[in-house]
Amino acid sequence: MKNHYKVIDEKQVKNKKIIMRVDFNVPMKGGKILDDTRIRRVIPGLKILANSAKQTFLITHFGRPKGAVSKDLSVQPLQDYLRKALSCNVSFLPYVDKPSKLKEKANKEEKICLLENCRFYPGEEKNDLDLARAFANIADIYVNDAFSCSHRAHASIQSITKFLPSYAGPVLAAELKALSNTLENPTRPFAAFVGGAKISTKLSILENLISKVDKLLLAGAMANTFLAAKKVPVGASLYEPDLIQTANMILNLAKEKKCQIILPIDGVVSKSLQAGEVSDTRLNGMVKDDEMIMDIGPESIVLFKKHIAQSRTLLWNGPAGAFEIAPYDLGTKSLGDYIGKRTSAGYLISVAGGGDTVAAVNLAGAGNEISYLSLAGGAFLEWMEGKILPGIEALNSAD
Ligand code: 3PG
Repeated sequence: MKNHYKVIDEKQVKNKKIIMRVDFNVPMKGGKILDDTRIRRVIPGLKILANSAKQTFLITHFGRPKGAVSKDLSVQPLQDYLRKALSCNVSFLPYVDKPSKLKEKANKEEKICLLENCRFYPGEEKNDLDLARAFANIADIYVNDAFSCSHRAHASIQSITKFLPSYAGPVLAAELKALSNTLENPTRPFAAFVGGAKISTKLSILENLISKVDKLLLAGAMANTFLAAKKVPVGASLYEPDLIQTANMILNLAKEKKCQIILPIDGVVSKSLQAGEVSDTRLNGMVKDDEMIMDIGPESIVLFKKHIAQSRTLLWNGPAGAFEIAPYDLGTKSLGDYIGKRTSAGYLISVAGGGDTVAAVNLAGAGNEISYLSLAGGAFLEWMEGKILPGIEALNSAD
């Protein structure tokens, strides 16, 4: 689908009040931010808009409080962080029992104001129109700068666009541009490297990718189900026996669409998941009954690199093995490092995101080399499935 939303700029917000949906759902412990990457990404654009606007209200969810106030899930600890990051005063607007009172309270706030966790309001996840109207009432313009939340049909993402002129924020616009260019208009050969544990969670992604990419490189425990479908023994490895038929269907579909599927040809095996357990490498066909494949092996790394070297565009989602436990992080590290290097050298356009992928990219030290690293989890996966995201659709059809 072609996007035709409006993108915000400082002229449009001049002397206006804006309410900006951001995703400050970042790892925090005891009120301390453990990783601020998501917040840092919106700060430059936010500074420009807030400078020009009369008042800027920031609205985010944090965790999954399910429509109830929870002290542990308050976003108030972010207030100090924002003051420092924006070098100005930032006020905090606590939860109000009656959202219709928000407007009166908001008027008294500072030029930049952070609203309490929007998921404390029972209407947020219900996409409630009254709540959306109450959020909208505090501002003149709505900006969505949270691609990572745009797969949620929630009041602060979807319904709010019915009440205000609505715009895409600079980060959301840049993200969607990078993602759409990759999937709809890639420089070919175009490959996707998809890892992870289960086919069941990535079925629609695989089906969608097969009709778009020239090559699909599969790794992680998910690849074991494909190996089993090809009657390659996988021993005691994690795989989905119920999905063998589905795996065969995907292999056939790939043939039909002329998409080459690349599977691992060897693996690093072990008898248990424990760190420090003895491990060994096995070519396909040699895995013993009591062994589990934990990572792709050295031959597969060479094979995957060869295919990456032949590609001009690469979409990466998911790790190559059980990358949280050394030494099973080697496949993910080597491929990540290679993707990063090919990208920096100008041979490859790489886009990565979804689930564990940011952690995998960072493990490989390729965070600054990937052409576009999406910080979205579920939204990235739904986008890879080819789904229309409700938050984006709402911006497309908004005034
Ligand atoms: C995310 O972390 O992927 C987004 O903030 C969305 O969070 P959610 O899955 O709780 O909607």
